[in-house]
Amino acid sequence: MLHPYSDPSVGGTATKDLFVSAQGSYVVTAEGQRLFDGNAGLWCVNLGYGNEELIEAIAEQLRALSYAQTFGQTSSIPTIELAAKLAQLAPSHINRTFFGTGGSIANDTAVRIAHYYHKRRGESGRRLVISLGRAYHGSTLLSASMTRITEYHAGFQMLDGLVYEAPSPNPYRRESELSIEAFLQKALDELERLIDTLGPENLACIIVEPILGAGGVIVPPPGYHAGVAELCKRRGLLLIADEVVTGFGRLGEWVTSERLFDFSPDIITLAKGITSGYVPLSATMVSDEVHEVLSMPGDDIPLFAHGFTHSGHPVGCATALRSIEIIERDGLLDHVKKVGPHFMERLSALTELPMVGEARGSHFMAAIEIVADKVTKEPLHAGLEASRRIKQHCEERGLIVRPLTDYIILSPPLIMTAEEADWVVDVLADAIVATADELNIA
Ligand SMILES: Cc1ncc(COP(=O)(O)O)c(C=O)c1O
Repeated sequence: MLHPYSDPSVGGTATKDLFVSAQGSYVVTAEGQRLFDGNAGLWCVNLGYGNEELIEAIAEQLRALSYAQTFGQTSSIPTIELAAKLAQLAPSHINRTFFGTGGSIANDTAVRIAHYYHKRRGESGRRLVISLGRAYHGSTLLSASMTRITEYHAGFQMLDGLVYEAPSPNPYRRESELSIEAFLQKALDELERLIDTLGPENLACIIVEPILGAGGVIVPPPGYHAGVAELCKRRGLLLIADEVVTGFGRLGEWVTSERLFDFSPDIITLAKGITSGYVPLSATMVSDEVHEVLSMPGDDIPLFAHGFTHSGHPVGCATALRSIEIIERDGLLDHVKKVGPHFMERLSALTELPMVGEARGSHFMAAIEIVADKVTKEPLHAGLEASRRIKQHCEERGLIVRPLTDYIILSPPLIMTAEEADWVVDVLADAIVATADELNIA
């Protein structure tokens, strides 16, 4: 295997990370260790592992119709039903879904739709994309180019001249003399300047994660998204909300942009939790206004020549439908709304420990940032080393966390109880203390 996001010179699979079974929030390794999966896989196993109802839905659909394509006017019943259900769950102005197989594909699709939209409106010059510093949007050539964790670009060729970066709206890293309000204004001013420098007539869209996940669970200042949406409207750009992580319950909402962040995107992308990671599926949802333009009658309409063999796969759609049913029946969004603030409150107390500069996030999406100096916020030289050691100590105590450069990410399954949340925070605290001792950091 060539492992994703790996050091190819190391190669192979570490036996302690070789998983052989899982149930609920716990995975079991080949060595027989049972671990609480504090990351729900890669932010995706929202309903936990081995859910019999999901397994049954998958088996039933495989028996009934194991494949159907969706090119042209072809479809299958679960695909149609899921499109209808998503239209109910999304903000009222967003009602049309294009199905894909993952977050990267969903974001590529969003940009291709933006291009098609502008061309159909006679604005073929609108090609360019703006993405935020520290954004993560995926691993295809286009979504990797929109990913602005630039250390991931080293060793590869990005799409030159298509994607431009706006400053990361990270309040923790703002200049110390700036208030949050001044920081917000500065971020929006800089974005506006970038739009004007590039020329609105050359710009297709801006893509934003409501909370920037893999970039460090960065929560932009209140008002940021609404400000971006307003700029997009004034300059004729489409706004894409990448809800691949934030959607499907992680923050206690199906879709967070309108309800939690007070903005109305033109396009929303969903993946990961949509099937709880059981099978691949993604959704790129467009507003009525965008769909109206895409479907405008006329002479010489260009074919919407975009699609994948597995677009709208009936098994993925049947899984998502059952998953939605379970989340609704079991009141899981309310559960996340209840346990999430408690989890965040407990995590925020970790800033009293050595090395922890900030604990941040929302509900079931969190990170702690490791720093050398809490006052200057200077990064720890051995940041990755520290976070890897913290991960190691957590695993010895039965908890999986995800170290990324100098932060540790937590994105537990939505079924995590308040007691489990307390245990997760206690284990992480122990692991931080043990690591600080090893590195002689007071
Ligand atoms: C916000 C966000 N968008 C897109 C993606 C890409 O999704 P995928 O890996 O399914 O292509 C990810 C993956 O972590 C993500 O976090």
